[in-house]
Amino acid sequence: MGKKLYIETLGCAMNVRDSEHIIAELTQKEDFSLTDRLEEADLILINTCSVREKPVHKLFSEIGYFNKKKKEGAKIGVCGCTASHLGEEIIKKAPYVSFVLGARNVSKITEVIKKPKAVEVDIDYDESTYAFSDFRSSPYKAFVNISIGCDKKCTFCIVPNTRGEEISIPPELIVQEARKAAKNGAKEVFLLGQNVNNYGRRFSDKERNIDFTDLLKMVSEIEEVKRIRFTSPHPLHMDDRFLEEFANNPKICKSMHMPLQSGSTRILRAMKRGYTKEWFLDRAMKLREMVPDVHISTDIIVGFPGESDEDFVDTIDVVQKVGFEQIFSFKYSPRPLTPAKDYPNQVDDAVASKRLSYLQDLHLSMLDTISQKELGKVYEVYFEELKPGGYVAGRSSNNWIIKVKGSEELLGKFVNVKITKTGRLSLEGEVLA
Ligand code: 5AD
Ligand code: SF4
Repeated sequence: MGKKLYIETLGCAMNVRDSEHIIAELTQKEDFSLTDRLEEADLILINTCSVREKPVHKLFSEIGYFNKKKKEGAKIGVCGCTASHLGEEIIKKAPYVSFVLGARNVSKITEVIKKPKAVEVDIDYDESTYAFSDFRSSPYKAFVNISIGCDKKCTFCIVPNTRGEEISIPPELIVQEARKAAKNGAKEVFLLGQNVNNYGRRFSDKERNIDFTDLLKMVSEIEEVKRIRFTSPHPLHMDDRFLEEFANNPKICKSMHMPLQSGSTRILRAMKRGYTKEWFLDRAMKLREMVPDVHISTDIIVGFPGESDEDFVDTIDVVQKVGFEQIFSFKYSPRPLTPAKDYPNQVDDAVASKRLSYLQDLHLSMLDTISQKELGKVYEVYFEELKPGGYVAGRSSNNWIIKVKGSEELLGKFVNVKITKTGRLSLEGEVLA
C-alpha cells in the first residue's frame, strides 16, 4: 500500500517550484501519492517562507494544528526558508516535528524522511545541477529554475541567509528542461530566480560567458515554447540590451516585475538597492516607451527604518509617474540576520500602517482608471483554468487575467478575446470567431 503526502506551500514562486520538486522525488523515488486530506496523510510537509515575521508565527500554530489532526504515526516535516533560518530550533520548540529541510537542501528530501530528527539546512549546499524527478502542477505552464540563492545584500532581506549565495544553473540544463516541458504541452515557460537578470554570474562547474539576455534568446529558440515569463528581475540590472530583448522578442510576455521597494534615493541607499529614484524612473519610462501595452508590477516596503514623510512622498511620486498595474505592498518587518533590524529610527507601527493604507487606497483608485482603458481591446489569451459559473480563465501576454464563458476545450489554447467588462484585478470578454 502506498503512502500519502500532504504538502502546504507558502511564499513565492520559488517555493512553489521547490514543492513540485519535493512531490516529484517522493512520488517517483519513494512510494508516495498526493492527498489534500490532512487526516489521511502519512507525511505532512509545510514549505515555509520567512520573508516577513507574520508567516513565522503562523508556522508554529499551524504545525500544532497538524499535530492534533494527523493520524497515528504520521510524520511532520518543516521545509523552506524558515527551516533554513531556524534549523533545529524548530524541533526544540515543536518536538513532534520529524525533520527540518532547508530551502537549499530540497534534493535531500528522500534522505530526511528516513532519518529521525534530521536537520539539513546547509546554505552552502549546491544543488544547481541536481537532476530532480519531474512533476508539474499545471499542464499548461512550466516553472523552470535558472539560479539558486541570491548575492544581493538588501539590508531588509533574510533570503541570502536562507537560500545562500547565488549560483546559476547551466544553460544546457535550462534549455533541456524547458524543451521537455513544452513538448509535454506547457507552451508557457516561467523562468525563476531570486535575481534573474543577474544570470550567468557564477556557475558551479565551469565559467561561461552568458547573461540573462542570452538565456532569453536561447529559450525563445525552442519551437514549442510560445511564451516566456520570468521573475524576479532587479531594476539595477535592467540595461538597454535587456530592455531591447524584452521589447523585441515576440515570445517574451510583456509584463515586467520591477521591485521598487522605495521611491526615495536616501532610503534606497540605506536598503543597499544599488539604484536611485531617477534610475528607476528612467528604466520604467523607457519600458513604457518601447512597449506601449506593457504591464509593470512592483513590490513596495513602507516604514523602512528612517523613512520620513518626505521619503514616503517620493514613493508616492514614483507610483503616480509609473502607474503600476499591480503593487505588492508591505509594512517593513525586522528580520533576524539582517542589518536593517538594528538600524536606529525604526518607524512607529501606526505611522507605517497609515502609509500602507494610503498607498493601497491610492493604487485602488488608479486601478479603476487603468482598467477602464481596457474596454473594447482585443487580447490573445492563453487559457489555463476552469472557473466557477461556466467560465474559463487565462492571461494576456501583458498579464491581465481574462475570463470568458466557455469550457475545457479552451484550455491550453491561444484565443483572441474582446474585452467587454473590466475589474480591478481581472477582465471579462468574448471569444472572437
Ligand atoms: N519586510 C517587509 N517586506 C519585505 N520584503 C522582503 N523583506 C522584507 C521585510 N523585511 C518584501 C520585498 C520583496 C518581497 C518579496 O517581500 O518587497 O521584494
Ligand atoms: Fe521565497 Fe523569500 Fe519567502 Fe524564501 S523568504 S519563500 S525566497 S519569498
